[in-house]
Amino acid sequence: MTNHRGSMTDETQSKDANVDAMPGAESLRLAVVGDIHLYRTRIAPWRMLNKRLLGQVNLWFERRHKFDPALLPAVCEQINRVNPDRLLLTGDVTTTSLPEEFADTVEALKLIDESIPITAIAGNHDRYTYTSARRKLFEQALHPHVPDTFPHFEKLNDTWHLLALDAAMPRKLTARGLIGDEQIKTAHALLQTLSKDQGVVVMCHYPAFEREGDRYRWNHLLKDMPQLQALLSDCPARVLHVHGHEHHAWFYPVPTEGFSHVIDINAGAPVMKTKEHPFGQGFCELQLPADAPNAVTYLHHYRDHNGEWTTQASHK
Ligand SMILES: [Fe+2]
Ligand SMILES: [Fe+2]
Repeated sequence: MTNHRGSMTDETQSKDANVDAMPGAESLRLAVVGDIHLYRTRIAPWRMLNKRLLGQVNLWFERRHKFDPALLPAVCEQINRVNPDRLLLTGDVTTTSLPEEFADTVEALKLIDESIPITAIAGNHDRYTYTSARRKLFEQALHPHVPDTFPHFEKLNDTWHLLALDAAMPRKLTARGLIGDEQIKTAHALLQTLSKDQGVVVMCHYPAFEREGDRYRWNHLLKDMPQLQALLSDCPARVLHVHGHEHHAWFYPVPTEGFSHVIDINAGAPVMKTKEHPFGQGFCELQLPADAPNAVTYLHHYRDHNGEWTTQASHK
């Protein structure tokens, strides 16, 4: 079957994909949760100076009609049912980096079984103001799930590694991100230690590619996207680049020459309601065979129009 952007993948839909699509008991299973964007609609006027005012206006007019935090407990329950080996949070847990929004995030994460380890990176909305970034509100709230240093490189098993990159920074007007030369250089050296028989999950808040047929705003993209692409292209191992930031779920084997070993994966915004996903976009599960980096399964878990959990699978 052809996916919604024309790349060849095998897609199947199942009410119980853990039975139908599980490639093997030895697989490493990761759940990926995208932009939650918890928010508070009532905040004191003196806290709405500068950029936060822009964020709140945007919230009042648009976001609170689309993002429904009441959908979040069901997402957490489903993650517990899936029971992944690791939960990855790709950032934008908040909307304007208010301490109350971070407190709500901490409360929501209490719904996740304690036995599921969590790795979290910040999105641009988690460092929305210079003060919130300077005070490290994201790092404090999500401790100990946030790596101490970036790039964070971790062996998951003999075949799979995790590389986490931090690209979130406060900006006066735009939503652009920047990984920076130093982080890219260190990450490049780390990835060169891998072989073609291995795979790496690269975690970054921003997409690494502009998909064919999509429209992107320049002021919403990663400033050093070309450098990130070069990093992924040079990697000897299979690459799964997982991110959020764009509020859609996708599984995109990159069609460009030099990237045949790279898949760009967006988990979607879990509580964002659209016509296609009236109960939110859910989350994704990656099934990574312990001995084969080239047989990856992507499961998109979401609630159908009746509110029932369903799963769409893509393989590559
Ligand atoms: Fe976002
Ligand atoms: Fe974002």
